[in-house]
Amino acid sequence: MPNANKTKKMSIPQLKANYRPLDEILYQGYAPNVISTAMVLGLFDALAEEPMNANTLSAKLGTIENITEAFANVLVALNLLTKNGADYSLTQISADFLVKSSPAYQGATIAMSSHYGQVMNQIPKILKNGPLKFDTDMWANIEAMKVGGQGTMGGSIQDVTEFITTLPEFANLKYMCDLGGSHGFYTMALLDKNPQLNGTVLDLPKVAELAKEIISEMGYSERINTIGADLETDAPIGDRYDLVFASHVIYEWKGHLEDNLKRINNAMVPGGVFVSNHLSMDDDECGPMSGTMVELMTRLMGYPTHHLSEGELKQALVASGFGDFTVRPAEDARQYRCLILAARKLGKPGDRDIARE
Ligand SMILES: C[S@@+](CC[C@H](N)C(=O)[O-])C[C@H]1O[C@@H](n2cnc3c(N)ncnc32)[C@H](O)[C@@H]1O
Repeated sequence: MPNANKTKKMSIPQLKANYRPLDEILYQGYAPNVISTAMVLGLFDALAEEPMNANTLSAKLGTIENITEAFANVLVALNLLTKNGADYSLTQISADFLVKSSPAYQGATIAMSSHYGQVMNQIPKILKNGPLKFDTDMWANIEAMKVGGQGTMGGSIQDVTEFITTLPEFANLKYMCDLGGSHGFYTMALLDKNPQLNGTVLDLPKVAELAKEIISEMGYSERINTIGADLETDAPIGDRYDLVFASHVIYEWKGHLEDNLKRINNAMVPGGVFVSNHLSMDDDECGPMSGTMVELMTRLMGYPTHHLSEGELKQALVASGFGDFTVRPAEDARQYRCLILAARKLGKPGDRDIARE
């Protein structure tokens, strides 16, 4: 018999919080693995044909039934499938974005973002020793550019096109520049809506060369040209634009936005419109969660930031000769938390024709 005097009493802590939310967060960390595997196996494509139970699904995918059942149940918990009796079927989000035949398919975008996510494995080292060296050549890759173009189909191109085509100036636009335009998809979408509009896709010289190929493949060579220019230099950027569109490109000028915005202003006709499409976070930069992760990854990779606040952007635009803003709040964005903002070059709209002639 143990000596009762020597037995220690277990100390049971009095809890102030529940562990369960933390447990949920940690298990959500396995979700990208499950989703990527489901895409590789063709699970969403199989269920796009018809709802089916785990037995039929595993026979189609060549997988083991009882593990397939647990696998599909995770996707139900993630709201990517629904379960009705024993049958699984797609939710709208997986039908739109995870089925290969869908025009808004995001498989390649998801694979590319998990590739960039690998930098997260280096957090401890980078936090102590400093960021990686950012390589601008990563943009000069035609496959990645096409993935970027397809990526816009998940809501961004719809939001931007709706916003710009409903601006009062849209019907009269003749010449636009897509700054850092890469794949040029935004320009193509806008040209489709306005037959008198022509465009320039401006990007780093190597990227502009590849953009030319994509523009030709898509059949827009007669209406879209390219300019290869590094906006960090004094390279010419063209002039007399009625519309300059900048999407996910001006982040790198945070803190000195005015230098480049003044140059853009000079390249526009009076009354011309500048439209910005950039990620925007909560004012304290602590939300949304995806934004905080993107910002961390961005800084780990050695890029200054991946967010611009409405306040900073407006202030820099006013100081660069723009005003008369139209704003679509970031909360309304369908794909990422992007703020779309239009600003007019101050001056009389009638001056446009004088400048062009
Ligand atoms: C994140 S991508 C955005 C592509 C496209 N605008 C979109 O929103 O899908 C950034 C683009 O800006 C271009 N870019 C970055 N820095 C640049 C610079 N200094 N001069 C010209 N283009 C630049 C890159 O080459 C790349 O094509």
